[in-house]
Amino acid sequence: MRILTGLQPSGKLHVGNYFGAMDPAVRLQDQGEAFYFIADYHAMTSSHDAAALRENVRELAIDFLACGLDPAKAVFFRQSAVPEVNELAWILSTICPMSLLAKCHSYKDKTSQGIAPNHALFAYPVLMAADILLYDSNKVPVGKDQKQHLEVTRDLAIKLNDTYGDGTAVIPEPIIREETAIIIGLDGRKMSKSYHNTLPLFGEEKTLRKLIMKITTDSTPVEDSKPVENSIILALYRLFASEADYATMVADHMNGGIGYGDLKKRLADAYWDFFAPMRERRLAISQDPSYVEKILADGAERARAEANKVLQRVRRAVGLA
Ligand code: ADP
Ligand code: TRP
Repeated sequence: MRILTGLQPSGKLHVGNYFGAMDPAVRLQDQGEAFYFIADYHAMTSSHDAAALRENVRELAIDFLACGLDPAKAVFFRQSAVPEVNELAWILSTICPMSLLAKCHSYKDKTSQGIAPNHALFAYPVLMAADILLYDSNKVPVGKDQKQHLEVTRDLAIKLNDTYGDGTAVIPEPIIREETAIIIGLDGRKMSKSYHNTLPLFGEEKTLRKLIMKITTDSTPVEDSKPVENSIILALYRLFASEADYATMVADHMNGGIGYGDLKKRLADAYWDFFAPMRERRLAISQDPSYVEKILADGAERARAEANKVLQRVRRAVGLA
């Protein structure tokens, strides 16, 4: 079974990304042949800062490795290291009805946020389909927001087979993370970089602790019982603490006598301890720049070998070879 997913290099990772995307990907690498890539071509649909792209790709590679991606198990590469994906995207474009893309909500969402409506942003789902079909992927774990793109991918795979013969493309199955656990941000809304309410995974201790101290709370006096429903402190603490510690934290809210400042400090300690092993790995990895480059180069070589096999099959099927 081949499992494939891509992550966009779009800035600092936060706790929502960790529990929603990285941790599930790390767990899945034991269940099949994992292909994980950094979607740098996709990032270019909404930003044109060359230095930032280079930096974000490198940071994401380090972060993903620090979070447990094991290059001995997963093929880890940058999307653009396999430029063959563009040829498959072109082939898919030729069979992709305009109407299929016109109904995609991510284009509408992004342009309504002020991102320039360029052609690549519109054609984004075709490149994503090419990412998936180029590696004969069977399973594609993605967040709910990518569900429609997986439907487009399946439509294009079926159409390719109908047009050029069965077996031209492997039809992938999505694994949609329904976000039963939507991680909430420091203001109680869904944690998202667009809301500026994130708790980053990595960063300077003082800054991160300060962020936690800024969590929105009500004005319950120290001695009074504090509400446990909709408590941002408790929702975040649950992610990092053992069940016993969580139960104590709930009791301390209900019993009163402990102020929000102290409860937040306890949250900050738990958060800091939870990510300690990853922080250590991150430090070690970033001290050896050639390590990350080597992993991405090895991954690209393995990915490219597979991509070329599939592309040759498709080229023959469509009459280019
Ligand atoms: P952001 O909302 O900060 O822009 P992205 O859309 O770049 O985050 O997130 C990449 C992936 O991380 C998403 O597909 C989703 O699976 C996961 N993710 C992001 N935020 C959360 C959250 N608050 N809770 C759970 N998962 C999340
Ligand atoms: N569009 C995805 C996102 O923003 C990233 C991505 C690009 C991807 N190509 C992919 C995910 C292929 C899964 C498979 O999250």
